[in-house]
Amino acid sequence: MHIFLTGATGYIGSAVLDSMIKGGHQVTAIARDPEKAERLLARGATPIIAELGLPKYYVPALKSADAVVHTALESSPRGVQLDKQALETMLGAQVEASRADGRHRSFLYTSGVWVLGRSGKAAEEDAPLDPPEYSAWRPAHEDIVLSAFSSTLRTAVIRPGIVYGGGRGIVSDLIKDALNGLVRVVGPGKNRWACVYDHDLGDLYLRILESPLAAGIFHATDEADEHVSEIVEAIAGQVPQRPDIRNMPMAEARKKLGAYADALALDQKVRSPKARALGWEPTQAGIATSVARLVEEYRNAQREKNNE
Ligand SMILES: NC(=O)c1ccc[n+]([C@@H]2O[C@H](COP(=O)([O-])OP(=O)(O)OC[C@H]3O[C@@H](n4cnc5c(N)ncnc54)[C@H](OP(=O)(O)O)[C@@H]3O)[C@@H](O)[C@H]2O)c1
Repeated sequence: MHIFLTGATGYIGSAVLDSMIKGGHQVTAIARDPEKAERLLARGATPIIAELGLPKYYVPALKSADAVVHTALESSPRGVQLDKQALETMLGAQVEASRADGRHRSFLYTSGVWVLGRSGKAAEEDAPLDPPEYSAWRPAHEDIVLSAFSSTLRTAVIRPGIVYGGGRGIVSDLIKDALNGLVRVVGPGKNRWACVYDHDLGDLYLRILESPLAAGIFHATDEADEHVSEIVEAIAGQVPQRPDIRNMPMAEARKKLGAYADALALDQKVRSPKARALGWEPTQAGIATSVARLVEEYRNAQREKNNE
């Protein structure tokens, strides 16, 4: 399959890229600068220098692909609007291309479990949404993707849990803080995070792509239902010197992190039955049980970064 991938230089996108290449697919990936494009080339992708806001640089490549996998998100004030425009551009281009050549196409969008809000009761893919302010924009983007489904365009929305593994993301930041001697936890840490290992997530994208009937919403979680305090304790016990752990009162966390604080404080229990129905079995069953591996992966990622 020929896949057009956005965000391949990012945390989720790089796991997806590795998994697609391993699966024997041809991947065209966009990068915003030549140095990152070189790195994508070294990892097996065909890079093109482009950015979401300038479709003329990437639409021709996208049109010739069998599938588009969108994992990019710009972390700037224009990021949400840009994501909406990019979705409309990419889906529109796929419809046009199918009309022209009669080929069926697929589109995979990366959302997140935070759209579910507080979900103490094991939320499956049909659970009602209640996003915190931080993710309030996201359901409308999911709807754009889901409503574009047609006889020639298969669309899927993937909602990953908080991703762990490698050297990036929220969990790696906890490892870094622990190695530096101080971990700050938003609130009392009695909430549960829904999480997923990066390689397992990459595997799920591949399965969805390769399953012609897979469409709609897919949760991607390891279903470990770990409390934040357990995660932090496991990490604290794995670093050479036990760090201080400081629980930030919510008012202070909101002052420091804004609406992001409430997203981090969500209590979530999220199930992924649709992914499991595709035969997806996460290899890592939670952060606490994988913590030695995760600290090692973090260290390796730092070493690689320092050698670049
Ligand atoms: N990480 C998680 O735990 C998690 C969990 C659930 C959902 N999600 C969602 O998954 C998506 C990806 O997250 P992530 O953690 O992988 O983010 P990330 O590591 O920040 O990666 C973002 C990617 O988007 C690219 N990008 C940003 N602005 C762009 C633009 N204007 N044009 C083209 N590319 C652009 C970045 O390229 P550069 O390398 O050039 O910056 C990078 O490749 C987001 O929607 C996020 O909300 C993440």
